[in-house]
Amino acid sequence: MADGPTAASTTPFLWGAATAAHQIEGSNLASDYWHSEHAPSSPQREPSGDACDSYHRYPQDMALLAEAGLNSYRFSVEWARIEPERGEISRAQLDHYRRMIDTCRGTGLIPMVTLYHFSAPAWFTAEGGWAGPRALDHFSRYLEAVTPLVADLDWVCTINEPNMVAVTGWSTTDGVLRSRPLPVPDLRLTDGLVAGHRRAVEMVRALGRPLAGWSVAAQVVQAVDGADEVAAAHARPRETVFYEAARDDDFVGVQAYTRSRVGLTGPIGPPADAELTSIGWEYYPAAIGEALRTAWAVTGGVPLVVTENGISTADDARRIDYLSGALDSVADAMADGVDVRGYLAWSALDNYEWGSFDPTFGLIAVDRQTFERRPKPSLAWLGAVARGGVVRTPSR
Ligand code: BGC
Repeated sequence: MADGPTAASTTPFLWGAATAAHQIEGSNLASDYWHSEHAPSSPQREPSGDACDSYHRYPQDMALLAEAGLNSYRFSVEWARIEPERGEISRAQLDHYRRMIDTCRGTGLIPMVTLYHFSAPAWFTAEGGWAGPRALDHFSRYLEAVTPLVADLDWVCTINEPNMVAVTGWSTTDGVLRSRPLPVPDLRLTDGLVAGHRRAVEMVRALGRPLAGWSVAAQVVQAVDGADEVAAAHARPRETVFYEAARDDDFVGVQAYTRSRVGLTGPIGPPADAELTSIGWEYYPAAIGEALRTAWAVTGGVPLVVTENGISTADDARRIDYLSGALDSVADAMADGVDVRGYLAWSALDNYEWGSFDPTFGLIAVDRQTFERRPKPSLAWLGAVARGGVVRTPSR
């Protein structure tokens, strides 16, 4: 263990925004998603291309967040850049992410770094991904490579939304990788992800300073018409097991956007009169508060961070309403004793939503031709709330 201060003793409440490398950097050529985007019958509607060109423009992205009043930024390191071919570690890419971490701090933002956010090197996925026979060896080699990056961080998110990764199958029958959603999580993938996470937590803990956890896609399952047992059975492989696997972690990242109503026959979708967001999800700001309560109960009291929360909408005033309602639900959960250490909005930028640039979750718009950044009023709004330092938002 290192002798320096531990993050647990020094870190303030995180007010920030989150991104993922593949969604914003551009030209992630060695990744499985890039391959899938370019497969002949790709399930992705359009390729990620240059994305937001944040690979080059990250200092500007960070400066905009800090200037608005936020104090942290969650971003991910791209394994496919660090290890584009099996066993070939890129020193230059490690240097790139070192510069990002240093720039983040230099800009006045506490970095939370995610080690794995959905995309993997194509070679890893072609070998079976998290269900492959050597998944843990491969991930461990990557962890070893990124150890120097992680050593002085306060917050490390090992794996983003393992429960969503477990429902992303990949087909390789004709030699070209294609992602495809599975109806139920693949338990072999779940096992591989849990093993990878445990290994990552061990690695981070050995460093003595950073706090380690993973971030779970909260399902916010609500039983309708007394369907409690059906709802619990629905939640178990999709959410519960991932919280249970986090019971010994330093924190759990909770990510929620909407709710899932489950009736006696299974998922029943939103009420007929529900407002839907631009990607068809029910507008339901209270989701995050409910998600925090569930995470707190299932983990048995592990500290929580909202690592993603937001809305896809072209109407930024509606985004402010959503964030405001969401923060109030976080404040209510905190008032009831749930230990919440931060709130990171999804997303800093309008970005590549795993198949299309149409959904706009960003606090900052990005011109698709020039990459010019245009902060939306919601960024200034969230920054002002952050400066005030009180989770419950002023009257709406
Ligand atoms: C993911 C993000 C994604 C967001 C909105 C989360 O599932 O971590 O990568 O863009 O939700 O769909």
